[in-house]
Amino acid sequence: MTITIVGHGYVGLVSACCFADFGNEVYVIGHTPSKIERLKNGDPLIYEPGLKELLEKNIKANRLHFTLEYPEAVSKSEIVFITVGTPPKENGEADLEMVFDVGKQIAKNLKKKFTVISCKSTVPVGTNKQIEKILNENRPVGVEIAVASCPEFLREGSGLHDTFFADRVVIGSYSQKAINLLLELHEPITGKKVITDLASAELIKYASNSVLAMKISFANLISFYCEKAGGDVETVLDAVGFDKRIGRVFMDPGVGYGGSCFPKDVRALTSTGNLLGINTSLLQATEDINQEARMNFLNKIIKYSGGKTIGVWGLAFKPNTDDIRFAPSIDILHALLDKGYAVKVYDQEAFGNVKKIFGDKLIYSKDPYEAATGCDAIAILTDWNEFKHIDLDKIKSIMKKPVIIDGRNIYLPEVMKKLGFTYYSTGRVPVTQ
Ligand SMILES: NC(=O)c1ccc[n+]([C@@H]2O[C@H](COP(=O)([O-])OP(=O)(O)OC[C@H]3O[C@@H](n4cnc5c(N)ncnc54)[C@H](O)[C@@H]3O)[C@@H](O)[C@H]2O)c1
Repeated sequence: MTITIVGHGYVGLVSACCFADFGNEVYVIGHTPSKIERLKNGDPLIYEPGLKELLEKNIKANRLHFTLEYPEAVSKSEIVFITVGTPPKENGEADLEMVFDVGKQIAKNLKKKFTVISCKSTVPVGTNKQIEKILNENRPVGVEIAVASCPEFLREGSGLHDTFFADRVVIGSYSQKAINLLLELHEPITGKKVITDLASAELIKYASNSVLAMKISFANLISFYCEKAGGDVETVLDAVGFDKRIGRVFMDPGVGYGGSCFPKDVRALTSTGNLLGINTSLLQATEDINQEARMNFLNKIIKYSGGKTIGVWGLAFKPNTDDIRFAPSIDILHALLDKGYAVKVYDQEAFGNVKKIFGDKLIYSKDPYEAATGCDAIAILTDWNEFKHIDLDKIKSIMKKPVIIDGRNIYLPEVMKKLGFTYYSTGRVPVTQ
């Protein structure tokens, strides 16, 4: 099959590489000449484990093509995917300008008798109908189209695995012809296929992300109780999670969720709900608790560091990615700098993106040991594996004072006690010496 993917970010490029690897001819359309040149030369521009190798392999096999030109790609494709960003507006609503612009460009360049246009970007319920209207207003006479919503569920950091081994593939469309083509394309993926209408497909994506965000906020809410009244949040949540109706996955207390999806998707679902006159207080509380978790963590740093030099381990919003969009690190670094702290940072992948925001206001370290040297305290913001088995005796010996404030609960309090650290984690009894 020949397909086009518009956009080459986390969703676009991962999807393009995976579909090309299944043997399809894949065109990727971008809008920045320098980026398209780098992609043609095998530079994925983003960090995603295994992506560079898969990109190089499929470029070499001549199945993956990068272009700035719509006619070259769209005219040959049976399916065209939209994967551009849908960032939040000031009021929380999803900004759909890029999606609609791309829709217009696709429409003008349609040549095949029948083309499926499928939106993978996360868009509010009703958006695909608007896309359909734009396509119909701008398409040449004589070409037929069908829209389909194919929301994306990959997680950054495991994007390739999540695409090759997806739990489910959701296809929303009123056209059986479109559904059949999309089923054929996704045939190598063994996950559950959910065939539904456009509105349900759009809602499935927001419902999924909102429930995951709610689980994190719920875990944080219980951690607040533990911190105020005593108790160990991990034990509480383990026991809660043994109930099969509840489960433990994703109930992770800490510094709160970030990234390009949960914060904006919870806000966008709230905004849609408000427009529809629905009570969205559950979603609002999810967001409020998330913000409180960040502030709670920041207050711990201020209260317990006992000095003004802080080492920060982890800047990405989660491990195995370089993405810092809406990451807790951004708010916390801004606040620490405003309060006059000297901040030494380390993250194995997110440095470049952080430097674009903070420039030389931070001290960039080549490894976690350098970031810890001479510090009054270390704050852990991302649970990269390399921090889990670090030489803590060495860390203790190079810090000014052995204080760790852990926003991801990666160490056991009893171990930290034995090692001689003062250790503040989330929802667990503090370790003091
Ligand atoms: N990142 C994730 O983990 C993830 C997971 C599921 C769904 N989504 C959703 O998928 C969408 C894309 O997310 P992302 O993280 O890949 O975003 P991204 O910012 O990484 O990528 C967006 C891409 O679109 C390109 N683009 C913008 N305007 C364009 C235009 N006019 N023509 C061609 N290209 C254009 C950008 O250059 C960029 O490559 C969003 O709606 C997001 O919510 C993201």
